[in-house]
Amino acid sequence: MTERAPFAFDAAELDTLRAALGRMGEGFEALPPVAGAPSNAQAARDVLIEAATRLQDNFPYFHPLYAGQMLKPPHSVARLAYALAMWINPNNHALDGGRASSAMEKEAVAGIARMFGWETHLGHLCGGGTMANLEALWVAGRLRPGAAVLASSQAHYTHARIGAVLGLPFEEIPCDARGRLDAAALARRLGQGGVGTVVATLGTTATGSVDPLPEILSLRDRHGFRLHADAAYGGYFGLSDNLGADARGSFDRIGEADSIVVDPHKHGLQPYGCGCVLFRDPSVGSLYKHDSPYTYFSSTELHLGEISLECSRPGAAAVALWATMRLLPLERGGEFARGLSDSRAAALELHRRLAADRRFLCAFEPELDIVVWMARAPRASASSALARRVFDEAARRGLHLALVELPAGFFDLDGAGIARDRETVTCLRSVLMKPEHREWLDRIWTILDAAADAAGREKGA
Ligand SMILES: Cc1ncc(COP(=O)(O)O)c(C=O)c1O
Repeated sequence: MTERAPFAFDAAELDTLRAALGRMGEGFEALPPVAGAPSNAQAARDVLIEAATRLQDNFPYFHPLYAGQMLKPPHSVARLAYALAMWINPNNHALDGGRASSAMEKEAVAGIARMFGWETHLGHLCGGGTMANLEALWVAGRLRPGAAVLASSQAHYTHARIGAVLGLPFEEIPCDARGRLDAAALARRLGQGGVGTVVATLGTTATGSVDPLPEILSLRDRHGFRLHADAAYGGYFGLSDNLGADARGSFDRIGEADSIVVDPHKHGLQPYGCGCVLFRDPSVGSLYKHDSPYTYFSSTELHLGEISLECSRPGAAAVALWATMRLLPLERGGEFARGLSDSRAAALELHRRLAADRRFLCAFEPELDIVVWMARAPRASASSALARRVFDEAARRGLHLALVELPAGFFDLDGAGIARDRETVTCLRSVLMKPEHREWLDRIWTILDAAADAAGREKGA
């Protein structure tokens, strides 16, 4: 593979954009010309250069040495398609504001639904995972008014907040030692009654753990709750070919959930502002029924605003997603799926090296592509401090990791001779979500190795 500068600018991309803009313009040639907007090209250039200078103040999210939080660059076709659509700036609320981009959204969303095995569905794009979960739980609350929503203690923090926004009682169910919803604890809570909805997280934010869907589905058979799958992070992983048996078992049955959330702006190679909510039963669309005196005039076909809580939405997000899925279809064995398998392979390899190293203590094997580990020290508090030093030393050497506060129970502290003087431990965390992370693992390891040594030598270690 040829190497290129880390921030290479590919002039061919602009040629492609120019060609696409030319084609789009052909559709509007019959319009009478308008006076060009007064422009000060030099002033605009100066401002843009100033903005570019400001943007240097970022971690290098696009580079494989950024292996910290969930940040991944959009595919170049998504970037170009988004930019192309900006010349129109469609609004997918109504067909009046975004006819073509609404059609593209419907096609793209149907493609995502098919990935989950749904030939029929109701769904649309939205701002991101939080908005998508809000919508799924809003529907759940309308169908089960006043009944509790349950999610694991490792579910995304916004679920509790969404419960508060919707006025639904929200309760946390404990996790097992692998960060997955504890099915036995769930069964006990269900026995007390009053539960309307259970949220299963397929890919938790902190550790990428996958809740045990087969067990949760068995409990649904017995208790009849509504099941929402928050697969904002993990949703696409069903396409990969190297999941462990438990995660595979859950992804194979995700289509049995009543609603699913997946974020194209996480693993779907999209710019931010692209979440997706899907409902298995299209008839929930009737819950959205409203009259708009302003918008729905140009067509009797479905306007996406008729089935979404948000009003104005960027049609450009749909154009970018549609283009990406056209280039990289969501199919097992395809290029997109291979990228996910590579990320998971990178995570497994990092976990293997960490587990074999006396300076570190691993929690459990990653189920997706997120790795978490402790720095070994006599006490949990000293380990937390040491993890922060490793984090800083790694960053000083150009490797950007993340930190996460995890329950001490995720680790075998007794077995490792680490005193449990805190209930949580500050751990190192790496989200290896770029396929290139696999090839970069040796370099990542070399830096981590040096950073851990340096951190261990520092005063107080
Ligand atoms: C599992 C899960 N759900 C929901 C969210 C919230 O998504 P967003 O940040 O797009 O609102 C996240 C974000 O990381 C997540 O990991």
